[in-house]
Amino acid sequence: DVIVNREAKEAIARKLAERAKEGETIGAGSGSTVYLTLEALAERIRKENLHITVIPASFESTMACLRFGIPLTTLWEKRPDWTFDGADEVDPEHNLLKGRGGALFQEKLLIRSSKEVYIVVDESKFVSRLGTNFPVPVELFPGALAYVENCIWELGATEVTLRPAKGKDGPVITENGNLILDVRFEQLSADLERKIKAVTGVIESGLFMGYCLKIISLNR
Ligand code: A5P
Repeated sequence: DVIVNREAKEAIARKLAERAKEGETIGAGSGSTVYLTLEALAERIRKENLHITVIPASFESTMACLRFGIPLTTLWEKRPDWTFDGADEVDPEHNLLKGRGGALFQEKLLIRSSKEVYIVVDESKFVSRLGTNFPVPVELFPGALAYVENCIWELGATEVTLRPAKGKDGPVITENGNLILDVRFEQLSADLERKIKAVTGVIESGLFMGYCLKIISLNR
């Protein structure tokens, strides 16, 4: 795929790959910045003969690790020393909107499982208010679609769209066998994140409000 802002993302990727230390277990989210960071990490592993294992959050990142020769492990076996991931939007308080790539549940699980989290983003991701460019993705169990949709409207949604698949008819089916609703709200908050999550049938949302994480970009 063509990577937008490739040069900037490569510089951010190198900056983050520098943090890796011998013997660490590292969680990797998904997206093009993560892909480039895995490539930079693989170069360090090769050149410095480091023993580093990665826990990937998606098929995309699993395949990138296999391609770059990075050893893999799972959350069953190891807890990540730290995790890195991209984001679709970052607000001034470092709240995130994620899930464009549909891997939000496993990304959030990795982030929750890690002591430290780094978010790798180019300048295009900074917004004054979350929801500026992207809706909030909500992953849900397929059988709960009608119920969840109804609850999401009751939480104040202004637009609800079942995410369509590309390259196949019908909706996107996530790597966990679920559906995704893309939802617009007037106002996004930590309270809304909790309320969405509390709906029976919801697996996870792409809201990451008030998490302890560090933003890694070109200028910060
Ligand atoms: C994946 O579900 C998203 O949350 C990604 O983290 C996000 O889309 C970042 O992608 P890029 O690094 O390609 O911009």
